[in-house]
Amino acid sequence: MIHRENNHPSIAVNRARTMVAIVALGCTLASQSVVAQDAKTIAATVCVACHGEDGNSMIPMFPKIAGLQESYIVKQLRDFQSGRRKSDIMAPIVAALKAEDFASLAAFYSGQKLKPGDAGDKKVAGFGKMVYFEGNEETGVPACVGCHQPLGAGHQVYPRIGGQHVQYLTQQLKNFASGDRSNDVSRFMRVVAKRMTDEEIDSVAAYLADLDAK
Ligand code: HEC
Ligand code: HEC
Repeated sequence: MIHRENNHPSIAVNRARTMVAIVALGCTLASQSVVAQDAKTIAATVCVACHGEDGNSMIPMFPKIAGLQESYIVKQLRDFQSGRRKSDIMAPIVAALKAEDFASLAAFYSGQKLKPGDAGDKKVAGFGKMVYFEGNEETGVPACVGCHQPLGAGHQVYPRIGGQHVQYLTQQLKNFASGDRSNDVSRFMRVVAKRMTDEEIDSVAAYLADLDAK
């Protein structure tokens, strides 16, 4: 059960496999807790490099994954694996994982506490707040709050976006607008983002960055 198919080996993943093997060798626990231990080991040896120890990435281009909805994390990992969501960085990482790792990694990260970032430019964020709560009637941008909830906390299939890095949020909205990210069911975010101006994208990201979304 420890053997992993790995078509695209990377140093980080190999390190994790070695760690997992070491943990498993000395392990007399029931199989369920071995899986949980697996997730913690993978998190601490592979994911940590970019997403931080507890899923609160310190690097603005890498998303904070702490406190994201569990089902959303599983969906993203599956989408990276199938290529529905394209990422040259995440693709080889998920290729080395098993389906049961997705569930336990998702449980681990959704249980971590989000640490919101610093407030952006107040003026810019003020306009972003308007976009978030009202959208833009003229251009057909819907209010984000309708799905992503107050504080950007999200709900079930709607991911938590409050407290996320500005750079990551901006990039994802641009990726939806260009179609580079196309894993949204019913094209919803592609339609929304395409209707947004660069100013609206930058402002809404500035508004979201310091929200303490639980
Ligand atoms: C080398 C850096 C790196 C490593 C290591 C890494 N990630 Fe990522 N991760 C990224 C980047 C970059 C993205 C954003 C991809 C994109 O452009 O859409 C991402 C996105 C994600 C997302 C989607 C987040 C969202 O808000 O939609 C999840 C979930 C995720 N990673 C989980 C993991 C897990 C679990 C591991 C360990 C098995 C891991 N990552 C290892 C860089 C990394
Ligand atoms: C009808 C519901 C809906 C509305 C309205 C909506 N979103 Fe989304 N949004 C979603 C869904 C669903 C996803 C997850 C797509 C997927 O499965 O990858 C998402 C994903 C996102 C993401 C990517 C999150 C991540 O961690 O990668 C961002 C950023 C985002 N939305 C911002 C916004 C903003 C800003 C607005 C308002 C202008 C908005 N959304 C309006 C449903 C909505």
